[in-house]
Amino acid sequence: MDLHDKSIVIGVTGGIAAYKAAELVRLLRKAGASVRVAMTEAATHFVTPTTFQGLSGQPVYVDQWDARMPNAMAHIDLSRQADLIVVAPASADFLARIAHGMANDLLATMVLARDCPLLLAPAMNRQMWENPATQRNVRQLQDDGIGLLGPACGEQACGEVGAGRMLEPEEILEEIRVFFTPKILAGRKVLMTAGPTFEAIDAVRGITNLSSGRMGYALASAARAAGAEVTLVSGPVAFQAPAGVDRVNVRSALEMHAAVMARAAAADVFIAVAAVADYRVAEVAEHKLKKDQGGVPPIRLVENPDILAEVAALPAPPFCVGFAAESQNLEDYAQKKRAKKKIPLIAGNLIQDGFGGDDNRLVLFDANGAHPLPPASKLALARQLLEHVARLLP
Ligand code: PMT
Repeated sequence: MDLHDKSIVIGVTGGIAAYKAAELVRLLRKAGASVRVAMTEAATHFVTPTTFQGLSGQPVYVDQWDARMPNAMAHIDLSRQADLIVVAPASADFLARIAHGMANDLLATMVLARDCPLLLAPAMNRQMWENPATQRNVRQLQDDGIGLLGPACGEQACGEVGAGRMLEPEEILEEIRVFFTPKILAGRKVLMTAGPTFEAIDAVRGITNLSSGRMGYALASAARAAGAEVTLVSGPVAFQAPAGVDRVNVRSALEMHAAVMARAAAADVFIAVAAVADYRVAEVAEHKLKKDQGGVPPIRLVENPDILAEVAALPAPPFCVGFAAESQNLEDYAQKKRAKKKIPLIAGNLIQDGFGGDDNRLVLFDANGAHPLPPASKLALARQLLEHVARLLP
C-alpha cells in the first residue's frame, strides 16, 4: 500500500498497448493509489472507457466538452487533483502534440494545463520511434522536463522487432514508485548480495538453502528508488533484476566472493543479504555420483571465505550492513556477528519470519543498541533500513 496517499491520472492514447494500461490501473489501485483515467478518442477504439471505469472506480473522461464536472472544466480539475500524470501508452501523435503545446483534445489540454509532473511511456512501431521527427519531439519533451519511461526493445504487435514497445505495467509501476521516493541515497554506489548460494557436490547435486532472494531484491529496488547506483550480486533465484539495477549472477560462495571483492572498493555501501554457505564441498565429482559404487559417498567440507568480514577489513571499506537470520537469541547472536565481522550495522530476523514470503520482521543493531521495526512487507522494511543507513552514512 505504498502509494496510498497518491492521486495519479493515467492518460491513455490510441495504440495496441492501451490494453496494458488497464493492468497498470489495476496495479496502481492495488498499491493504494487513487487513479483517474482520461483517454483520447482513438484510445477508445482499443479499450472501452467502461473497462477503466471498472478498474479505477472513477468516471473516465474522453470528451473535452464532457459536462459531468460541475464547472465543465475536466481538463483543469483532473490535473489539480493529481500528484502525477502518466500517459501510457503515449503514441507518436501524442508526443508530437505535447512537444508542440497543442490542446486539441481533453487529454492534451489537461497535460498543457497541468501543475504536476508528467511521465510519458511511449509505444509505437520501431520506425515511428526512430523517425527524426519523433526523436526531435522526444528531445523537446526532455528539455521541457517531462520524464520518458522507455520505450523497451523487442517484438512488436506489427511483427517487427526493435525499440518502441511500451514498458510492461509492472515496470511502469516501479518507475512511479521511484518517482515518489525521496532520493536519500543520490550519488551513492550500493553493492549488495542476495539469495542463496549453491555448492556443488557432483554434476547435478549440491548444498543450498531456502533463501528466496526476496529481502535482497526488495533492498535493491528500494536503494535504486532512493537514487543509488545499485549492483546486485545474486545467487540463483527466480526473480528478474529490479529495473535499473545492475545484476551479476553467481552460483557458489566462491563466485559471490570474487564478484563482490572485484567491486567492493568502489562502493559507498555494502549490504550482505545473501544466505552464503559457510562450507563448500572439497572435491566436487565431475560426473553424477552413482549409488552402486559401494557405501555412502564421503563428502568432505571446507570453509568458504567470509565475504562480509573481508569487505569490512578493506583499508577503506564501504559502509557495511550485515544480516543475521537466527532461530533464537536474536539480539545476542546478531550483536556478536556485528562485533566479529567489525561492521557498524546488522539487521536481525528470525528464520521463521525472514526466509521466503513477502513479509518480515527486522531488528536493526548498531552501536546505539537495538532498533526494532514493525512487521511489514520486505519492501517497506527495505526502505526503513535504508533510511537508517542514510542517517549513519558519513
Ligand atoms: O531471501 P529471503 O527468502 O527473502 O530471506 C532473507 C534472509 C532470511 C536470507 C535474509 O534476511 C538474511 O537474514 N540473510 C542472512 C542470512 C544469515 O544468517 O547469514 P549468516 O549468519 O550466515 O551470515 C551473517 C552475514 O554475513 C550475512 O550478512 C551474510 O550475507 C554474510 N556472510 C556470511 C557468510 C559468508 N561466507 N559470507 C558472508 O558475507
